[in-house]
Parts: sequence; structure tokens; C-alpha cells
Amino acid sequence: MERVPTGVKGFDELIQGGIPKGASVLVSGGAGSGKTIFATTFIYEGARKFGDPGLFVTVEGNLKNIVWNMENFGWDIKSLEQKNLMKIYRMHIDPRKPVEPQIDKELDIITSMVKDIGATRLTIDSTTSFGAWMSDQGKLRNLLFRFVDSLKDLNCTTMLTAETKGGARDFSAYGVEEFVVDGIFAMYFIPPNRSIFIRKLRGTKHSQSVHPCEITEHGLDIKPKDEVMWSAIKQY
Ligand SMILES: Nc1ncnc2c1ncn2[C@@H]1O[C@H](COP(=O)(O)OP(=O)(O)O)[C@@H](O)[C@H]1O
Ligand SMILES: [Mg+2]
Repeated sequence: MERVPTGVKGFDELIQGGIPKGASVLVSGGAGSGKTIFATTFIYEGARKFGDPGLFVTVEGNLKNIVWNMENFGWDIKSLEQKNLMKIYRMHIDPRKPVEPQIDKELDIITSMVKDIGATRLTIDSTTSFGAWMSDQGKLRNLLFRFVDSLKDLNCTTMLTAETKGGARDFSAYGVEEFVVDGIFAMYFIPPNRSIFIRKLRGTKHSQSVHPCEITEHGLDIKPKDEVMWSAIKQY
């Protein structure tokens, strides 16, 4: 099976070298747990180290902040953008107007950007913002389901992020995200400790342990040889 390495330090050896090509995964966790850093690393290292063109779609962030955060790790975003190996796009939805047609329009834009740079990696950070556009839970779930389903047609290896309350067994905000993906990487932050757990990954003999991780001045650093006791995160 062809695999797509995440490029996150210490992580790929936990998943037999990478995400199955074309699969979609969800990176879930509480606020500040490292989801955005995980997702940006996937796109940045994908481009820098593996030469895979990637599109990073931010739903909530301000473009300048995202670029600034990445450059803060010493990453050279601009030259990758110039080489069309990486693109960052801010998706805009006005909740006062009908949401569905706007989503369709955004899907068209994302599709043409993916084609433009020949992206094989795609990230949507984060799906939790969908809740701000639609209060009806049933409709929201439908919308989210349809959105992720359309992304599957793009044939990219896709990474979504979802913000949870941070509990050990919370994997998404709306309870749909976790069912439409092929894999879930759960990140935990119980100050001062960070950890990560692979909840599922289709077609992969993956680690069953919770592994400690750190965010350093260079980015995310996972300790594949070390384990965290479940009891350390379970009470939350
Ligand atoms: N250069 C850095 N050095 C150490 N920690 C950092 C650095 N940059 C960011 N962080 C940590 O990462 C956290 C943000 O991670 P992020 O991926 O944005 O979280 P999430 O998307 O899950 O909310 C910050 O709150 C901070 O604790
Ligand atoms: Mg984030």
C-alpha cells in the first residue's frame, strides 16, 4: 500500500510509515493541543521533504497569523509557495446569508486550487467552525457530511481538524466528523503535558499506546518509544 508520511517528527513510525494514500484523517483535540501545528506540518513537510504539492485551507484563522506561526518555526513558506508546492487559502462563509450555496462555491474554489497546483495533500482547519454557520444540528451534520464527501472526490490525502472539549474519548465536536474519516489522531494537552493517540487508521497496524509529545521552537516532536498511562488523560 502506498503511504503518505505526515512528516511530523516521531509520528510516522507509529503508523507503518504514513497515512494510506487517498485516505482522510481527523486530528482532534482540545484548544491548544497542537492540531493546527500537526496539520500545517503535514502540508509543509509534504512540500519541503517529499515534494508533494499541498493546499492548507483555514476556516477560522487569519492568514497572516497562520503564516507567522509557521515562519516562527523557521519554516520557509514563501519559497514553497513560489514553487507552487504549497498554498494557503482562507475560506469565508457569511452566516447571515444562505450557507449551502456558499459552501458549494468554496468547494469549487478548493477544487480549482487543488487542480492548479496538482495538490495531493489537503487540509481543512478546522471543521468545528461549521457550527457557527448552522445552528440546526441535523442540518449541520448533513452539511459536514456532504462537504467531506465532496473532498473525497479530489483524490487527495486529506487531513481535517476538529476541536473537542479535550476529553480522552471526545473525537469530534458534532459527532459526525469521526465517522466520515478513515483515521483519527487524538491530541491531548493537560498542562504541562502533551500526548497523542491513534484512535483508528484504516489498513494500518498502528500503535495502540498514548505517546508523549512536545511543541518546541522547531515544531511538533512525538516520542514514539515512550508511553503515557491512560489514567493520566482519562479523568478529563
Ligand atoms: N514556538 C513554540 N514553542 C513552544 N510552543 C509553541 C510554539 N508555538 C506554538 N506553541 C504551542 O502550541 C499551541 C498552539 O497549538 P495549535 O496547533 O495552534 O493548537 P490547536 O490548533 O489545537 O488549538 C500554543 O498554545 C503553544 O502552547
Ligand atoms: Mg487550531
